[in-house]
Formats: sequence, C-alpha cells, structure tokens
Amino acid sequence: MKITYLGHASLQIEIAGKILIVDPFISANELAKHIDVNALKVDYILITHAHQDHVLDVETIAKNSEAIIISNYEIASHYERLGFKAHPMNHGGSWSFEFGKLSYTNAIHTSSFADGSYGGQPGGFIIETTSNNIYIAGDTALTMDMKLIPLQTNIDLAVLPIGDNFTMGVESAVIASEFVECTKVLGYHYDTFGYIKIDHEAARQHFKSKGRELLLLDIGQEIEI
Ligand code: NI
Ligand code: MN
Repeated sequence: MKITYLGHASLQIEIAGKILIVDPFISANELAKHIDVNALKVDYILITHAHQDHVLDVETIAKNSEAIIISNYEIASHYERLGFKAHPMNHGGSWSFEFGKLSYTNAIHTSSFADGSYGGQPGGFIIETTSNNIYIAGDTALTMDMKLIPLQTNIDLAVLPIGDNFTMGVESAVIASEFVECTKVLGYHYDTFGYIKIDHEAARQHFKSKGRELLLLDIGQEIEI
C-alpha cells in the first residue's frame, strides 16, 4: 500500500493497482499548488464528510476519471443526483471492494455542504487489505468509539487529524492512537489555515515522549506501508 499526502486531509492511496483519493481539497490549497488535480487518475474517491475542505475537487476528479464516489448515504446520493457513480455506506457497515474491505466509522464532527445543505453524519474509514490495515479518522474529536476499532481490526497505521480547533489536536491524537492500539500515526488536517497551524517539532516530540511515532509528510511525499 502506497500513501501519498496531497495536503490538508487529502490522501492518494494505491492498493493492488487501484488508486483511491480521500477527501480531495487541492486546487484551493495554497500549500498544494504543485499538485495538478487534473493529472490524477483515480478509481475511487472516499469522502469522510461534506465540508468544503474535503469535497472541493470531487467533481473535477470524478469527471476526469469516472471514479466511483464512496461516502455516507447522503453524500453518495448528492453525487448520484449530479450524475456521478457512487456507493453509499453508513456507520458500522463494511463492503468488499476490489482494493480491500472498507468500513465507515464513527466520527464526532459536523457535515454540511458549502450551501448549508445536509451532508449526513460525518465518519472515517478503515481499509483492510491482505497486507495492511489503515484507519483514516476523518475530522473528529477524540471519541470513546475509537476503542471499538482494535476489538475487530488490527491497525497498522492511523491517519489522525492533529490541527486542533476544528478537530482533535496533538494531545488528543496521542490518546486516539492508544485507543486504536496503533503506535504509528500519520498526521493530517493541519497547517492549511491559520486556525490549524502547528509546531511540527513539538508535535513529533510529544508523540515520541508517549512512545509513539508521528509522521508528517511534505505535500506530494509518499510512504509505503
Ligand atoms: Ni470538517
Ligand atoms: Mn475539515
């Protein structure tokens, strides 16, 4: 599994030759100017919730690639009404896709489209493959529900928001990594706006002091897990 950080909460994940994009917000991200949205060739678009900083480039990417959009029922239905292919899910549900088993998890946050219309309840994803399992928390507070995850799935990498203000901050993210029983964390949802700018070195040190590892990638940088 190869994960490329596309800035903010946007990820590209390559699994068994399939390309997934999570929460594409690239074209309006000043920090991601070097990423060309139109160059992305994508099989699936995963959306955690409807906020603009997670769905901005969905239509562009879906048009270019005829990608299948996977999200909660309300978001999937929204894109189906616009003529896109979509697969609806809801919390606690799983489905086996050609890239692996995908589950839609609980998150504590809100979810509305830019025009204020309802975007269902926000969530996160667990992707299980033959080699690795990852948890992508989405925008969320620290929640006790995270403790349910390791009862069912062994997580190899947890992708957690660390920018604070709109989501968990670094200290809560350390506890979240304890709840999901995963020592390796990829931080996301930080630095994009003034409210969520963080001190990278302090964040890394805090994780390290708790016996955990925080990965912070450059935008466009990839890791293999
Ligand atoms: Ni949000
Ligand atoms: Mn957000």
